[in-house]
Amino acid sequence: MAKTSFGKKHIPLIIGNWKMNPQTEAEAQKLFTEIHKGIGTKNAIAQVAIAVPFVFIGTIAKIAKKSRVTLAAQDVHNEPQGTYTGEISLPMLKSFGVSTVIIGHSERRKGGESDAAVRVKTEAALQAGLTAVVCVGEMVRDAHGEYFNIVQGQLRSACTNIKKSQLSRLVVAYEPIWSISTGDGKGKTVTAEDALEMKLFIQKCIAEIFGRSAVPKVRVLNGGSVNAENAQTLLEEGRADGFLVGGASLKPADFVQIIKISDTYGKS
Ligand code: PGA
Repeated sequence: MAKTSFGKKHIPLIIGNWKMNPQTEAEAQKLFTEIHKGIGTKNAIAQVAIAVPFVFIGTIAKIAKKSRVTLAAQDVHNEPQGTYTGEISLPMLKSFGVSTVIIGHSERRKGGESDAAVRVKTEAALQAGLTAVVCVGEMVRDAHGEYFNIVQGQLRSACTNIKKSQLSRLVVAYEPIWSISTGDGKGKTVTAEDALEMKLFIQKCIAEIFGRSAVPKVRVLNGGSVNAENAQTLLEEGRADGFLVGGASLKPADFVQIIKISDTYGKS
């Protein structure tokens, strides 16, 4: 695969995050099936995962077996079992074939999830052999560049005990809360320029933590108001290694389009 001046070009990784949607099992089946049929297998290049609500994982896992779409989880507990009411463990997720877990989504951080919690969850997910998608990003974009320090702090904390051998399963998703389509910022889009600037900054942080050789191993996704209109530009000009898609992953036609754009980009 072609090299770019920004390092290795990865096969795009597209993760849909359904959040607390849809409301019934039947709707979840319908939505997943429409996406899975819509993208088909022809020209399949991009890696695709959907983080469905926990209660639908069993049902969706059966459809996912016949699909190129793999299963992700929206969160996980760091302990493998025990007295943790309401929590879901890594062994539970693995038993349904879940291969990817989103950790520290900005909506969870906003609700009080700490850097320390993100760190232990990340360590546990990588230790269990899953791909850990660690979300980083600021609440608001200040004019003085404090947001870089916030992202750096979140990354340093999450990476404290990660082993170099685990880095190919570490994915960083930049999804500042101001850009979430349904959030307080009402979805101001991360421009390709913002995305590229932050990708390079995240890569610099990764190099500082693990050494330069680590940089090509870690994919940096873009999240926040990604849609069928801006996906191409974010890949080409923002050099995103893929996307974390919220709202648009609930609209089958839009999500299918984002995946097809990523297939074509991945092939080039
Ligand atoms: P959005 O959500 O695509 O609806 O903005 C993205 C996210 O939650 O990461």
